Amino acid sequence: MLATLNTLVLTGIDARPVKVEVDIQNGLPGFEVVGLASTSIKEARERVRSAIKNLGYEFPNRKIIVNLAPADLKKEGSHFDLAIALGILISSGQLEGHLPENMYFSGELSLNGTLRKIPGVLSMALELINIDKNSMFFVPEANREEAGLVSEIKSYPVSSLQEVFDFIAGDNSLFSAEPFQVSTNFDQEILPDFAEVKGQETAKRALQIAAAGLHNVLLIGPPGGGKTMLARRIPGILPEMTREEILETTRIYSVASLLDSEHPLIHTRPFRAPHKNASAASIIGGGRIPRPGEISLAQNGILFLDELPEFNRDVLEALRQPLEDKVVTVARAQATYTYPANFSLIASMNPCPCGFFGSDVECTCTPLQIQKYLGRISGPLLDRMDLHIEIPRVKYEQLRDKANSETSASIREKVKEARMIQKKRFSHYKISLNSQMRPADIKKFCSLDEKSEMLLKNAFDRLNMSARGYDRVLKVARTIADLEHSEKIQLQHLAESLRYRSLDRKYWNA
Ligand SMILES: Nc1ncnc2c1ncn2[C@@H]1O[C@H](COP(=O)(O)OP(=O)(O)O)[C@@H](O)[C@H]1O
Ligand SMILES: [Mg+2]
Ligand SMILES: [Zn+2]
Repeated sequence: MLATLNTLVLTGIDARPVKVEVDIQNGLPGFEVVGLASTSIKEARERVRSAIKNLGYEFPNRKIIVNLAPADLKKEGSHFDLAIALGILISSGQLEGHLPENMYFSGELSLNGTLRKIPGVLSMALELINIDKNSMFFVPEANREEAGLVSEIKSYPVSSLQEVFDFIAGDNSLFSAEPFQVSTNFDQEILPDFAEVKGQETAKRALQIAAAGLHNVLLIGPPGGGKTMLARRIPGILPEMTREEILETTRIYSVASLLDSEHPLIHTRPFRAPHKNASAASIIGGGRIPRPGEISLAQNGILFLDELPEFNRDVLEALRQPLEDKVVTVARAQATYTYPANFSLIASMNPCPCGFFGSDVECTCTPLQIQKYLGRISGPLLDRMDLHIEIPRVKYEQLRDKANSETSASIREKVKEARMIQKKRFSHYKISLNSQMRPADIKKFCSLDEKSEMLLKNAFDRLNMSARGYDRVLKVARTIADLEHSEKIQLQHLAESLRYRSLDRKYWNA
């Protein structure tokens, strides 16, 4: 008898439905999986066999064929186990019961028949809203919180194959996961505060703008100026995550298998600070079994690349596309995966190997050394950094200054207001932040008066700006205007935005 069960497969960050057909035929004993299945699925055989045996059922000593449809969709993962095991039990006549069309099964089996946590449950549950709001989704107990985030469908966290067996066989004693609503009142973590940073008012202002519009920032200056210190304080001026952002970010961590019982959901803004020796695959995404990289794990938050020129050259080059598109595409032989990558890149760097070029301390590098060092940051990459900020060394008097600087909490309120204005403006568009504006949006929302047009035209010629740089100046000007609750971009907003683009003249074209 042929048994057909529903499950889903991950295609990057999204999920698609898959039918698992199990047929048991006479012939030489065997276990064959067809339908573009990866080796991880072919390994299901041993797990499924042991689980079935250890629960006291019989693993048919005949020819078992498992077909995964649609055939043109690449299938990856160990979560097909549950559907395959149930299919074998049904197909061999050991399990009888009603299996409605709206039941979906995802879970990896351990040898004793219990279910293990799997990646991507949140993506699967979200896809089920599109497929059928009456879906019943069976997931491992360890994925309870994730599944429960999606209150639109019914999820059933189960701990073993036996539990699902009993449910289908008619023992309906299973509970639905509590529909779990994300409260927006997660405690704000205690984060380091901007008030601890003395001086550096220009930098603080620029970081406030970056936080408000989720723009990219390059911090450049001699060692000890506080670049790292400043960057680490950005999460504290970002607003709490919205429910939408929590879902968006959590599903990426779920796909990357980075959720655990201590962090079942991601509700604080990511701050990712990968090491400078990290591989392109770990930062950009990819690998033999594709996984989202650091740029995706930074979704709706910060990617901090400290000492940018010291990162691998292929990492720096590969950053360009996602910085432009806000998504990253990873191509594999039989499939292409797309992961979100909407983050603010905060990069820091010294201007030369010794660190003091352009500062009040003498630089000991040769011109060639300086040129080579700065040359690691290519023009196109520099172009994508919306705000370039110089971080000079703080003076002794500034460090001793007892005057209170603005606190992170106070800055965060301004950032929140500016974000509300953006959200409202883009409510009929698929974006919510100025940094996400596409050229057509920029045309629409960044109109300039005559004087500003003149200023921009002059700057464009004088700074030898690219079209990309031009767009980015306007986006930042839009955020500055929003921070001042100004409907129109005014001359002073544009002028300030332009000031954050002139650093390359001091260093790169020196
Ligand atoms: N503006 C500042 N206000 C207060 N302390 C500072 C400031 N700048 C630097 N420091 C102190 O110097 C240390 C080193 O700064 P750091 O952020 O590592 O500099 P950089 O990354 O630019 O080399 C900080 O941990 C902090 O103790
Ligand atoms: Mg540093
Ligand atoms: Zn130097």
